[in-house]
Amino acid sequence: MADTEDTNIANLLHEARTFAPPADLAANANAKADIYDRDPDEFWATEANSRLSWFTPYTTLREGEAPHWKWFTGGKINACYNCVDRHVENGLGDKVAYFWEGEPADDKRRITYADLQREVVRAANGFKSVGIERGSHVAVYMGMIPELPVTMLALARIGAAFTVVFGGFSPDSLAGRINDMQCTHVVTQDGSWRRGKVFDLKGNTDTAIESCPSVVTNIVVKRTGNDVVWHDGRDIWWHDMVDGKSEDAASCPCAPMDSEDLLFVMYSSGTTGKPKGVMHTTAGYLLGTSTTHYYVFDIKPETVYWCAADIGWITGHSYIVFGPLVNATTSIMYEGTPDFPDKDRWWDIIERYQATVLYTAPTTVRTHMKWGPEYAQRHDLSSLKILGSVGEPINPEAWIWYRDNIGGGKTPVVDTWWQTENGMILITPLPGVSELKPGAALRPFPGIVAEVVDEQGQVIPPGAGAGYLTITSPWPSMLRSLYGDDQRYQDVYWSKFPGRYLSGDGARVDADGDFWLMGRIDDVMNVSGHRLSTIEIESALVDHQEVAEAAVTSKPDPITGRAVVAYVTLKGGVDGDAAKAKELRDHVAKVIGPIAKPAHIVFTPELPKTRSGKIMRRLLKDVAENKTLGDTTTLADPTVVEEIQRRAALVV
Ligand code: WT7
Repeated sequence: MADTEDTNIANLLHEARTFAPPADLAANANAKADIYDRDPDEFWATEANSRLSWFTPYTTLREGEAPHWKWFTGGKINACYNCVDRHVENGLGDKVAYFWEGEPADDKRRITYADLQREVVRAANGFKSVGIERGSHVAVYMGMIPELPVTMLALARIGAAFTVVFGGFSPDSLAGRINDMQCTHVVTQDGSWRRGKVFDLKGNTDTAIESCPSVVTNIVVKRTGNDVVWHDGRDIWWHDMVDGKSEDAASCPCAPMDSEDLLFVMYSSGTTGKPKGVMHTTAGYLLGTSTTHYYVFDIKPETVYWCAADIGWITGHSYIVFGPLVNATTSIMYEGTPDFPDKDRWWDIIERYQATVLYTAPTTVRTHMKWGPEYAQRHDLSSLKILGSVGEPINPEAWIWYRDNIGGGKTPVVDTWWQTENGMILITPLPGVSELKPGAALRPFPGIVAEVVDEQGQVIPPGAGAGYLTITSPWPSMLRSLYGDDQRYQDVYWSKFPGRYLSGDGARVDADGDFWLMGRIDDVMNVSGHRLSTIEIESALVDHQEVAEAAVTSKPDPITGRAVVAYVTLKGGVDGDAAKAKELRDHVAKVIGPIAKPAHIVFTPELPKTRSGKIMRRLLKDVAENKTLGDTTTLADPTVVEEIQRRAALVV
């Protein structure tokens, strides 16, 4: 099969222990072992009828054929109503929806479902007053403040589609998304807090909008109080927009949307330079996220749940906003970094709110490992019952550390595999059922059929090795298409193996039938649980006036999982130095965002190319990973690689 990202897979063999569910958890778990016996269609229909509230019941569970399905056709539904209003109507108005914790230590808010409803209605009335209506497209560029979920819910309430752009992205990245979706409105804030410093979201938005003719109004939440440049007639403060607006639900009823109406677009890196606009629609997305949330995290009325992701990524959409709110969950939402003011901030939060579930990424676990367990030991973490992991393969060492040092040696660790395109968790343990294996995501969620196939599309039997991870039947919260490019949707996900969704990940199924994820097999890299495209970073590098050519790959990194390695040739045969490397990193940060900065830059007079002029990235990956080189016979000039190897050895 194709090569996978994960060269640490041998690690997995070192941990042979398995972990049974704690008896009390198993006895009262939402999911029991027989959940795996359910017929997928019966399972989804039952969940759709019990977990969601419909204005008009759907008539058909699913229609269409690969790769275009429609779910719950005929149904009328509203995401905001399911997340907020119905809970208030059902007597849960006083239940806390979010314990919000700002980065500055005394900045806290306790937001009940009734509070949330009032804020959402006020915002929705405000949005209408500035011209947002059903079918509008709105870009949202914010940090982790309550107005972010309020914005998403208020837009869903009136039937406007949105795209949330991660607050760490550059003006160029923001502009690309605004233009792709032709957004008429932007919602942002003056600045966001990051380790005590202000990140200038408004300034970035101003720069972006310069190249976005579709934008008529920019709504700005005042958060950090930094100076902003004001564009009269275009910019409006959030507090002015909502001033005097009604917060009475009846003043702005939830729009009855079709099940398949667009809820949001989430842009994600692919194998070409242009990010893919992954489309999620209303009913199926709500169902997939809430059902998985309920069973995977064993949500009870008294659960205090914390997903420590950023809402700017799909994990935050599905597991901070929509999934938990549909289930009327009490969540924690935290604005800042784990080390502000000190490295025990997370554990302090868990102790104070008595969190029962923590969901985070392996890279964060490894960062805490590096800092040492003493920060966790300062706090009583005994409220925790379930720990979750997402975003990249979790190495067994980190898995065990997480369970022992955060979970007190007793909590299940659920390693959940999924993607932006999937909307919901697809392969995962169930905490009251599964015998856990550190490093394995174990089983497809009930209702999901996953298979690992070889290059010819033949299923590889359990225990017989690794291949391409594919999903063989549709699921409610799958992407419907790529915004404005259905052909790309069909080509990327459905053309290699007709009838199978191609995940882009490698996997193997062991002799027990358990799934082990092995990383990306395409030109996508996974750094700190964030998805980056080799081509996108290469384009950003060659955009620098002194760069002649660039080739990007990645290598294993003890903290970030993978680390970006860039091979760069400067114009005129000039050699680079540390200062030039910094300049190039800053340039990549400017074009894409700081997350895309290459960790390693190797300056080289030449890149290895075939005789037809194609860069041999495969060889560069071997060099980066310090491996024996693959076939070099097709190289136009074999000495080029030797020179690169010599130079790569000098770079740490
Ligand atoms: C890619 C998707 C939706 C989750 C956040 C990232 C990798 C995700 C796991 C896991 C191994 C994982 C895959 C996948 N990934 N979770 N538990 N084990 N790998 O979403 O940005 O769409 O990235 O993240 O490589 O393809 P994303």
